[in-house]
Amino acid sequence: MQEKGISQAVIGRLPRYLRYLGELKENGVERVSSQELSTLMGVTASQIRQDFNNFGGFGQQGYGYNVDFLFTEISKILGLDREYNFVIIGAGNLGSALGNYLNFERRGFIFKGIFDKNPELVGKDVRGVKVKHINDLEDFLRNNAIDIAVLTIPKTGATLLVDTLVENGIRAIWNFAHVDLDVPEGVQVENVHLSDSLMKLSYNISRYDREKK
Ligand code: NAI
Repeated sequence: MQEKGISQAVIGRLPRYLRYLGELKENGVERVSSQELSTLMGVTASQIRQDFNNFGGFGQQGYGYNVDFLFTEISKILGLDREYNFVIIGAGNLGSALGNYLNFERRGFIFKGIFDKNPELVGKDVRGVKVKHINDLEDFLRNNAIDIAVLTIPKTGATLLVDTLVENGIRAIWNFAHVDLDVPEGVQVENVHLSDSLMKLSYNISRYDREKK
């Protein structure tokens, strides 16, 4: 499978394909045409074909796509054919909400620990995982195979923590702190800013209003 040069835009669309294919699978659907998928997802059939062609097609002329096969292949491309252990740093509103979200496990992301600097939060239960003090983080990382750190703390703390995370085996950071992190090569960072998504919404509201005038 040739993956070189695949745009981040295509990669960004794969989770959505996976979600729809997962639903088809659950409903017992065995095959789907690009036209059917297009109607279901509200994207053009040619976009779907183009996207899948990046990975060698997956489809068969006159048959369409085998849902199970396509689901498995896209899962593999997204690295979802294995499990990832994650810890959350910051057991406040956002950290606790993420820890309480069950569906990450369904995709193979396993919630292993949650840490905070506030001693009052230590021992608090987040879906069966007890909050530990941040001072225990290093030991925990050394003794457990953790792949991903989720940062739900303010930006100063996040910047200071990066070295500790990387030196103790963290391979990826899901970064909710509003700061760009400096990491060595080979460590992946995905920045999440919910307000970016909200701004897209406000852009679309105002664009609609402008066009109607
Ligand atoms: P919060 O105040 O409820 O929780 C933050 C927690 O982090 C507190 O329990 C605090 O004790 C802990 N903390 C602070 N520094 C720490 C450190 N160095 N080590 C360990 N624990 C530490 O705040 P909330 O609402 O959960 O937000 C957390 C952070 O995420 C904030 O900085 C906020 O700006 C950011 N945020 C980002 C969003 C995004 O879309 N990227 C959305 C919402 C919040």
